[in-house]
Amino acid sequence: MPVLAIINAKGGSGKSTVSTTVSAYAAKVGVQLILGDLDPQHSVRTWLRLRPSSLPAISGWLLDAGRAFRTPVGVTHAILDTPSGLSGYHLARVVMASNLVIVPVAASAFDREAAEACIENMRRMPRVVSGLCVLAILGMRIPKGSSAERVTRAWAVGLDIKFLGVVHYSPLYISLVDAGSSVFDDAGEDATGLRDDWMPLIDWLGETYFGTLPKPEPKRVPQRIVNN
Ligand SMILES: Nc1ncnc2c1ncn2[C@@H]1O[C@H](COP(=O)(O)OP(=O)(O)OP(=O)(O)O)[C@@H](O)[C@H]1O
Ligand SMILES: [Mg+2]
Repeated sequence: MPVLAIINAKGGSGKSTVSTTVSAYAAKVGVQLILGDLDPQHSVRTWLRLRPSSLPAISGWLLDAGRAFRTPVGVTHAILDTPSGLSGYHLARVVMASNLVIVPVAASAFDREAAEACIENMRRMPRVVSGLCVLAILGMRIPKGSSAERVTRAWAVGLDIKFLGVVHYSPLYISLVDAGSSVFDDAGEDATGLRDDWMPLIDWLGETYFGTLPKPEPKRVPQRIVNN
């Protein structure tokens, strides 16, 4: 079963936002996915508890970083949300269990430096060296129109790690968490407008993780009314 882990030892980098957003997309397109929560803060559990039953259901999976991961039957894909500060043995265990790792990185040099240390640890691991686990970087909470987008891209290219673009800053992400929702659930004009940022990541997961899947429906374009 393909396992996608969202990892960055730096706190608040956007791991739980990526985990929940990708899970919501997967649920929407009908993937039998399980969302694993390795974080003692249990952000994922909170989000699942807040998630209305009217939205596509997502199975949660509370995991103990010190125990073996035994995947429940009936699911085809797993996503692991991991805690900040993940390092050493615990980091190695998650990477050993994963096929893909997304590293969300926020806008400042503090964020890039902390992420780089975590990436360098992972890329020395035999599973990454051998290509059995592939790393990718996603810019997160990047202010629109700022130089941070260019800087983050150049930094990822310099590290020679797959770059999945950036998710711009929007206060809507906070309300989406509080609603147990995501940009792929909320059909409001503002939320659907944020989906474009996620499409490079979704396309990459389509090739590497999900297989061929339908994309969420495109934004509705108002029809022109022609009066003859
Ligand atoms: N693109 C965005 N724009 C605005 N706020 C965002 C964005 N992405 C995430 N956030 C907010 O930033 C905060 C941190 O994000 P998140 O909880 O996903 O990070 P994390 O890496 O999981 O944190 P931790 O290390 O504590 O687990 C949250 O309040 C989240 O709602
Ligand atoms: Mg988190």
